[in-house]
Amino acid sequence: MDGRLDLLFGLVSRGETFADIGCDHGYIAERVLKENKFEKVIVSDISSKSLQKAVDLLKPYGDRVKAIVSDGFENFDILPDEVMIAGMGGEEIIKILSNAPCLPKRLVLAPQKNTDKLRRFLVSIGYKILKDFTFKDRCKFYDAIVAEEGVDEYLETEYLYGRDNLKDFPDAFKEKLLIEAKMLEDIIALNSASKSSKEDAKIRLENIRKILK
Ligand SMILES: C[S@@+](CC[C@H](N)C(=O)[O-])C[C@H]1O[C@@H](n2cnc3c(N)ncnc32)[C@H](O)[C@@H]1O
Repeated sequence: MDGRLDLLFGLVSRGETFADIGCDHGYIAERVLKENKFEKVIVSDISSKSLQKAVDLLKPYGDRVKAIVSDGFENFDILPDEVMIAGMGGEEIIKILSNAPCLPKRLVLAPQKNTDKLRRFLVSIGYKILKDFTFKDRCKFYDAIVAEEGVDEYLETEYLYGRDNLKDFPDAFKEKLLIEAKMLEDIIALNSASKSSKEDAKIRLENIRKILK
């Protein structure tokens, strides 16, 4: 299991039924079962070919595993206590959560992009964000969010950058901001960049500089 999956596994709690939507290989599910974090695990994927990898891997766990080909929660007949949705864009995760008739109490999410939109969505549907941070594994940056049913209030900067990032300022977040600042400086200096993209870059750069102070 790579560093990213190891970190995501660490965010999984304990309980009766856990689901991994978009499970692909099934590595998270395997670890959850092996370490008995949950008694039952639902592995699901929109692709039957991807799901088959998890089915093969999880054979030794017998009837503790249920495998479902499904677009999000579409074909679920049980509501899990907790779900992980990792390795998809924030908008895809929002779509999956929006289409669900009811949602698990706890969500562990790892969006590949549009994390700000996902944060706004979670707060708007009555989830309290417990963890919200950026980390780095093998030269790539990732975001992780853990949310539970509840009421939350986020500031605009927290929606944009993540609450724990602004509070704890982890190295990965700082490094990501420095890279983004350099990219924005390049846009501003570029002759061929449009006036509107330069204006947008200036605002974003100013925000980043305020955070880095
Ligand atoms: C990049 S893989 C991520 C695998 C694993 N969750 C991880 O983080 O390593 C994304 C997986 O999500 C599945 N997927 C994409 N959209 C989905 C949806 N709407 N419902 C279920 N699975 C989906 C894909 O088929 C693919 O197997």
